[in-house]
Amino acid sequence: MTLTNVNSPLTLTNGVEIPCVGYGTFRTDPAVTAQAVQDAIGAGFRHIDTAMVYENETGVGQGIKSSGVPREELFVTSKLWNTDRGYEATKAAFQASLDRLGLDYLDLYLIHWPANEKQFGPDAAKINAETWRAMEELYAAGKIRAIGLSNFMPHHVKQLLETAKVKPMVDQIEVHPGWTHAAEIKELQAMGILVEAWGPLGGQGAKVLVNPTMQKIAQAHGKTTAQVSLRWIIQQGVLPLPKSIHVDRIKQNMDLFDFELSADEMKEIAALPNLGGQCKDPDEVDF
Ligand code: A2P
Repeated sequence: MTLTNVNSPLTLTNGVEIPCVGYGTFRTDPAVTAQAVQDAIGAGFRHIDTAMVYENETGVGQGIKSSGVPREELFVTSKLWNTDRGYEATKAAFQASLDRLGLDYLDLYLIHWPANEKQFGPDAAKINAETWRAMEELYAAGKIRAIGLSNFMPHHVKQLLETAKVKPMVDQIEVHPGWTHAAEIKELQAMGILVEAWGPLGGQGAKVLVNPTMQKIAQAHGKTTAQVSLRWIIQQGVLPLPKSIHVDRIKQNMDLFDFELSADEMKEIAALPNLGGQCKDPDEVDF
């Protein structure tokens, strides 16, 4: 592990650098988002992840502005929501996200969920391909520095690659102890795709942070269970996106580079049973 801090860059296949931990905003109340993002940037985060469906892009943009940190020093991601799939709608939705954020480019834009066959039957692949075609054009036009996917399992990615001209640089999936996606991570990484972890602490209501195994390992390193969870993700070469609106926790979620989990500890965490989280199958969702 050569990473030295939360902003040490990983390099995407197109050469773009991305800070190796990002600040997540899933379920951040729009009313507190601007302050939370300003706090996160103030604490040192330079990578912010939002999405149209979080309804807090406006607050993210305000937090970025009031932070006083120059735009080019920040890495900002947003995502295309499911109701905006397709070539024309994707372009319009992207511009609407930019407008809400008050930015003139994004560092990374993701398709939030694949259109699945359960909802769209045989048209699913075509819908994803058309959505991607619009993303490719926005990328070629210089409006997005890198493009990628979210909640795409390897079989969705392979299907997309049948028509894609630009290979996705990132895939953001749910990863936390008890919901490992270990095989999928390896497969995506073998395709040259950087895997990002959403819900890296299990999200609201999960038992990850109070699990006795996690507590035992945390105690052994003098760290918290949240830090152990994030470290376990980082040591798999995956980029975690922890969300917190509390400054003390935000700081904790950056302080991940003064300890290392052993191979045995990594395995012990990987073997934990389901501890909650969203744990949704992208082929089964109906939104
Ligand atoms: P809060 O925003 O009130 O701090 P995830 O990133 O997996 O979605 O999980 C985020 C959840 O975990 C939120 O409920 C967040 O609450 C909480 N959380 C974030 N960081 C920490 C931490 N270091 N310790 C304990 N809970 C945390």
